Amino acid sequence: MADAMQDSTEAWDRAAAGWDRNSALVRAWLAEATEAMLDAARIGPGMRVLDVAAGAGDQTIDITRRVGPTGAVLATDVAPAMVALADANLRRAAVPWARTQIADAEALDMDGARFNAAICRLGLMFCQRPLVALRGILRAVAPGGRFTALVFSHAEANPCITITSRIARRYAGLPVDQPPPPGSLLSLGKPGLMAELLAEAGFRDVTVQPLAAPFCVPSSADYLDFVRSAGSPILNLLRLLPQDDQRRAWDEMALELAQFTKAGGWEGPNELLLCVGARQ
Ligand SMILES: C[S@@+](CC[C@H](N)C(=O)[O-])C[C@H]1O[C@@H](n2cnc3c(N)ncnc32)[C@H](O)[C@@H]1O
Repeated sequence: MADAMQDSTEAWDRAAAGWDRNSALVRAWLAEATEAMLDAARIGPGMRVLDVAAGAGDQTIDITRRVGPTGAVLATDVAPAMVALADANLRRAAVPWARTQIADAEALDMDGARFNAAICRLGLMFCQRPLVALRGILRAVAPGGRFTALVFSHAEANPCITITSRIARRYAGLPVDQPPPPGSLLSLGKPGLMAELLAEAGFRDVTVQPLAAPFCVPSSADYLDFVRSAGSPILNLLRLLPQDDQRRAWDEMALELAQFTKAGGWEGPNELLLCVGARQ
């Protein structure tokens, strides 16, 4: 495994319990977008569906309900701790027609698996080589099947990610105000990029549509709590810094994020891209 990939996998392993603990928050935040993603993949009874970068399996459970016991779902993720949590969550949900597998999206090795559909919720942007991942996904889908994904759009539409990433990168001594590096939160948000990648990977009938997904919590402190327990990319930038620097970075983020406080609570703007492609 290449260094950057290994680093990201270990970071997601460390954040897995935090991501799972916040699943109700994530579920509420992404409810509409998730429905739109599953609708666009036309997921219905009896289908065989591949879930890429499934995390702790939150959206996997939605898929199992759509396909029902005559269908099948394979939830994959590169981080073993995430897959273990997905396994436990699926067992608790009593949906034996779903199973899990540790798999790097960039090395899927599922050619000819003939899934009726594949989805990926907020995972593709963490791939160092998203085109390689997309080609592997295309090969796993049956002719006529669809792939849909949610990724973050560009920096201006995602100011909370921009703020937390910029501050964390500055404290980590990394360049800021440069295009988002491959494998980072906003790496696929450049207008036109996802459509280009899907088409280049061989998908047909490609569409990419922005979706607003504001993050609504009582206060900016709640958002920061979420980032501090589940925000693997930010945590990974800060984790080796002296405690004082870490504290200063979190304080600076809190100060800047307070600007999104509203009368009834805190609303962090986020924009996602709903990306759709079909296999011919
Ligand atoms: C933001 S979480 C999203 C998890 C889940 N899809 C959800 O929406 O709740 C990102 C997930 O992508 C996974 N991931 C990152 N890079 C990956 C890769 N190359 N292959 C497979 N999974 C990957 C991480 O382990 C993590 O579980």
